[in-house]
Order: sequence, then C-alpha cells, then structure tokens
Amino acid sequence: MANDGSDSWLGLAGRVCVVTGAGSGIGEGVARELALLGAYVAVLDRDEKSSGSVAASIRGAGGQAVAVVADVADESAVAAAAQLVANELGPCQVLVNNAALVSGSTGALMTADLGLWNRMLGVNLTGALICTRAFAAQMVAMGHGGSIVNVSSICGHMPRPLGGAYSVSKAGLMMMTRMLSLELAEHRIRCNSVSPAWVRTPASEAIYSDPEIGGKRRQLVPVGRISDPVDLANAVAFLASDRAGYVNGQDILVDGGLTQTLLNMVPKPSRPMTPDKP
Ligand SMILES: NC(=O)c1ccc[n+]([C@@H]2O[C@H](COP(=O)([O-])OP(=O)(O)OC[C@H]3O[C@@H](n4cnc5c(N)ncnc54)[C@H](O)[C@@H]3O)[C@@H](O)[C@H]2O)c1
Repeated sequence: MANDGSDSWLGLAGRVCVVTGAGSGIGEGVARELALLGAYVAVLDRDEKSSGSVAASIRGAGGQAVAVVADVADESAVAAAAQLVANELGPCQVLVNNAALVSGSTGALMTADLGLWNRMLGVNLTGALICTRAFAAQMVAMGHGGSIVNVSSICGHMPRPLGGAYSVSKAGLMMMTRMLSLELAEHRIRCNSVSPAWVRTPASEAIYSDPEIGGKRRQLVPVGRISDPVDLANAVAFLASDRAGYVNGQDILVDGGLTQTLLNMVPKPSRPMTPDKP
C-alpha cells in the first residue's frame, strides 16, 4: 500500500483526508484507495473496533492512517475528532461524508416512527453538516482550499419504495452539497457528491448473496455487474483531487448506467414501426 508514485495524476499524496463511516463498506474502500494514493487518512467511525482495524490494516500495508471514533450526529464528539485529526495528521484538506444509517428503513411516510425518522435524518443529513462545519473550518483557517465529497445515493434521485427518511435524507444531502458549493467557494473549497446505486458491502450483503435477487439485479445493470466499493472510491478520489478543480456543486451517479434503463421497460410492438417518409 506504500505510495508507489501512481498518484501523480491525482496529486493526493500527503493530503489530509477524513473519511466518515470508514470502518466498513464504501467508506473503508475510499479510505484504502486514498491511502494507496499517498494521502494521510483519518478513518472516522462510531465503531471503535472497525475504525481501529481498518486504520491498522492500512498502516500494515505501508499507508498513513489514524483511527478516529465519533458519532457524526454528536457535535461535541465531532469537535473532539477534528482536534485529534489536526494534532495527529494536520488540518483536514479533504472531507468525505459517507457515514449513514442505511438499513432500518422508516417505511411509509404516513406512519413512520418519528424517533427513527429523526435519527436517520440526524445521521445522514445533519451529521454531514456537523462534520462539514468542523472540518471545513480547518480548511478555511489554512487558506489553501479543499474538497468535500458527500456520499448520496440513487435513492436521493428517485424514491425508494417505502424508503421513509432514507431517500429524503439523500435528496437533502444533494441540495446541501449544492448550497455549500456556493457558500464555501470564496475559500476555494469545492463541494460535490457521488450517488452509488447497487454496491456490494456488509450493509447490502444479504441482497447480493441471494443468487436469485442478486442475479436479477445484475441483469438490470447495463455494465453487467454490481459495483464494489472501489468503483465509488475512484470517483471520490477524482472529486477530492485538483483534477476536479472546476467541478463544483455536482453529483456523479456511479450506477453502471442503471438510471438510463427506464425506457427499456416500455412495452413495444413486436414489428418495427413504419419509418418516417423522407
Ligand atoms: N451499499 C449500497 O448499495 C449503497 C448504495 C447507495 C448509497 N450508499 C451509501 O454509501 C454509504 C456507505 O454505505 P455502506 O453500504 O458502505 O454501509 P455500511 O453499513 O457497510 O458502512 C457504514 C459505516 O458507517 C458507520 N456509521 C453509521 N452511523 C454512523 C455515525 N452516526 N457516525 C459515525 N459512523 C457511522 C458504520 O459504523 C459503518 O462502519 C452510505 O452513505 C450509504 O447511504 C450505499
């Protein structure tokens, strides 16, 4: 995992990057990829064991990483985490807001338990704002600009059936991304998001280990496969880097073309239609 110079195009070597929810799945994949590119990575997660083991594994492979334990929805815990990152690695230059509650859907909006609703919005949306305030403050103080990448979802673009607060939180995250892209531009801090569709992670393993459901989903994706965390990590690394220096306030759907397939479902006549007369 030691930096082998392959980062020269992205130029992320030595950058201080904070990845939330980095103890598992996509966040872990992003943390590993950024470390591979030579970045100094803060592996932030509420789960002490998983953030510790991911950070240790990155260091064991020759990368630079520290474990940071915090619940992103807890303002004082995030403030302490920001201080720890500054002390251990230096001021944050790249923030990836990835932590989210992905399961335990709150269900139908008309009957959703408001405690679950508030907790999901508190982590997925307010948590990203809390982390942005804490870590963007370090970017502003340094005066060298920075990049924030929020991990949204295909469910922020279209309603997840009975998805309750989840789709709402992800749509809100994309609007927050666009608003911050304006607010922080004077500090040369860019803010963008990525929207995964179907990614094989511990959170989704039950779906993709089921051969029938996993197989049917695979057939629906034009590129013919379910994505891996590294597919997201590549898009995040680009947005984090100066190569995306003119990309601000955007969302990249990393979905293998899934969202382009709606018209495949439209019934068509078996015989071709009569061509237009010239
Ligand atoms: N897996 C998919 O198919 C998929 C699809 C679209 C979007 N996403 C998004 O990608 C991101 C990661 O998803 P994943 O599948 O890797 O999930 P995951 O459950 O495997 O990992 C999420 C990590 O976030 C941590 N976390 C949760 N709440 C936290 C909190 N309050 N504070 C700090 N850490 C917290 C968890 O401990 C865990 O390590 C989420 O934002 C999710 O909405 C995932």
